[in-house]
Amino acid sequence: MMTHLIDGKQLSDQVLLEVASEVALLKGEHDMVPTLAVVLVGEDPASQVYVRNKVKRATEAGMGSIEHRLDAETSQNTLNELIDQLNNDPEVHGILVQLPLPSHLDEDVVIASIHPAKDVDGFHPLNVGALASGRPSLVPCTPQGCMIMLRQVHPDLSGKNVVVVGRSNIVGKPMAALLLQANCTVTIAHSRTRNIETLCRNADIVVAAVGRAEFINADWIKPGATVIDVGINAIDVDGKRKLVGDVDFESVAQVAGAITPVPGGVGPMTIACLLLNTTRAARYQLA
Ligand code: GUN
Repeated sequence: MMTHLIDGKQLSDQVLLEVASEVALLKGEHDMVPTLAVVLVGEDPASQVYVRNKVKRATEAGMGSIEHRLDAETSQNTLNELIDQLNNDPEVHGILVQLPLPSHLDEDVVIASIHPAKDVDGFHPLNVGALASGRPSLVPCTPQGCMIMLRQVHPDLSGKNVVVVGRSNIVGKPMAALLLQANCTVTIAHSRTRNIETLCRNADIVVAAVGRAEFINADWIKPGATVIDVGINAIDVDGKRKLVGDVDFESVAQVAGAITPVPGGVGPMTIACLLLNTTRAARYQLA
């Protein structure tokens, strides 16, 4: 079977065009430069790469970006004070605190301290509740990107059987909420799920977000199904570092009807949706 490759780079370019025209409107009509503040605590190498990419893309889209790098020993108080300052700064429209945080900091406290209207990650309890009750406001970026990709293949998702593998607050849970809102029948599978392979094999769509390299293989996938791979895992192949997803791409591409690659799939969509959320947050602050 010839699988259809869902090109995240190309799709994200389309979203970024939309972002650029919204940035131009906000500038022209309201003299406003949508601005994203990114906070990184510590020196986690992967987080440093993600933050650098987010800031670079924001600048390319004509947006403002502010980077705050704090050392790994930063206290909860110092971080709270910075977030307060960003909450009250009228020139800052979106705030993102890169996760994970060093273990002495409380992520829940930090997330709840971000003003909900500036919460471009969509992680604040108010935004989580809005999504869960079917009135989405600022929606988490990765699941939002996955929905745009899915709609390329399935303009009408109504009635599709979907298995989301992984139950994180960042991806699995909000992904399930968005799919439910699109009238899918949704199952969330996780480490305690029984017969996970059989569950997946019955699904029209599988979304993999477990953080385990090449965990899902062709035996798990119904011929013709759509597979969205959220994983980004660094593995060693012949002494070289290689990025792979949660899906064994080589084997799954033989049976799936459509599949996202890693890299070049969900990753670029996440950043594009972050910038889209920043323009939305800027609009909220006009009101
Ligand atoms: N770390 C991994 N993914 C994310 C994300 O989407 N947002 C933030 N803030 N941190 C992350």
